[in-house]
Amino acid sequence: MIGSHRLRRLAPLGVAAVLALALAACAQSYPNSTFTPHSDLGRSIDFLWNRLMFFGTIVFVLVEGALIYVVIRYRRRSEDVTPPQTHGHVLLEITWTLIPAAILAFIAVPTVRTIFQTQAPAPANSLVIDVYGHQWWWEFRYPQYNFTTANEIYIPKGRTVDLVLHSKDVIHSFWVPQLAGKRDAIPNHTNHIWFTPDSNMATTVWNGFCTEYCGDSHGEMHFRVVTVNPDQFASWVTRQQAPGFFSPPPAPAAPAAPAAGAAPAAPAAPTPAAPTATPAQLAAYILPRAEVPDYAIPHTPFPDAIKFDDKLQGDPAAGEKLFVGAGTCNACHTVAGNPLAVGMIGPNLTHVGSRIAIAAGMYVNDKPHLSRWIKNARLMKSGVLMPTLGKGQYDPQTKATTPSGLSDQQVADLVAYLQALK
Ligand code: CUA
Repeated sequence: MIGSHRLRRLAPLGVAAVLALALAACAQSYPNSTFTPHSDLGRSIDFLWNRLMFFGTIVFVLVEGALIYVVIRYRRRSEDVTPPQTHGHVLLEITWTLIPAAILAFIAVPTVRTIFQTQAPAPANSLVIDVYGHQWWWEFRYPQYNFTTANEIYIPKGRTVDLVLHSKDVIHSFWVPQLAGKRDAIPNHTNHIWFTPDSNMATTVWNGFCTEYCGDSHGEMHFRVVTVNPDQFASWVTRQQAPGFFSPPPAPAAPAAPAAGAAPAAPAAPTPAAPTATPAQLAAYILPRAEVPDYAIPHTPFPDAIKFDDKLQGDPAAGEKLFVGAGTCNACHTVAGNPLAVGMIGPNLTHVGSRIAIAAGMYVNDKPHLSRWIKNARLMKSGVLMPTLGKGQYDPQTKATTPSGLSDQQVADLVAYLQALK
């Protein structure tokens, strides 16, 4: 038996533990909490959770209360007395069948109703996004607007978004805790998840996750969802539809007036059009970096083993040449508008410069991380397909050192090019 002085010593500890737990529940920022839904679907699921919790708590208190009462009231008081024995009690048995049946009905009816609601086809005017899970990143296609992006989507507040879930390899699962989910992305099978982000919510970023174990880097298969106003969304779409470009288009030269009496010059052969964008596309909306909440910015440090001279200045034009050189980046990556860059294996990089993160949300999208990623992605993320490109780098998958490969200056040129693809 615990002595009363020992109980008195333990009591403050218990009170402190309960207080700490209560205070932790009051903390402000739970960016990945599913208990603060910002969409119709999120609220439906939250309602079911609350109802289950309510009835579950009643059952727990009644059952545990009865158990404790019986254990104390009918405990064995003496070795010599056999307690009265009973067998069967019709009223009791009917009661403990009817009560759970009623509770199950209260739970089952809204559950089944929600399942049917969320499995129904999305409303006809929904924003459709084709989602493809890859090991370990997300591809997002907007078929109504004809562009593709990776690991980051913008959705307008107040408009239903219909995510059509596919997988290119194994089973993944789509989850944005504050908006919607979870729903699996399955090979050779199409799933839908649709929801309407609240129209009065903030213009901000939400974290998304893969929530079905899918191999080495399952834990680093994130994405970002940016909820914006409808006009901001329309503007962002014009930018996404623009080709990848790394500098504003040059102002068109005024045609020279032909000199009097001179024979009209033969029209010059048109030079191939460089990827350019219209002024409207150049001015299009991207969530300013200053408005990205800290929880949406990855803080994973790069491995010290990958050395890079961060002071090197890159040349985007040289980077673009490297990008489309034989058998390099363009074998796997697309930059829309560049006919030499149509690879489909890796993420579409048309506007990679404007994204918050690289490597499916694992690293912040800046020069120190991007340069090291290009040099040796496999040291930065376990199991990735992206080859080790830096000269003299150790490849943890082939267990060999890359004899040839990119110099640091070439890496800096590629970074300058990619960063310019806003
Ligand atoms: Cu994809 Cu876990």
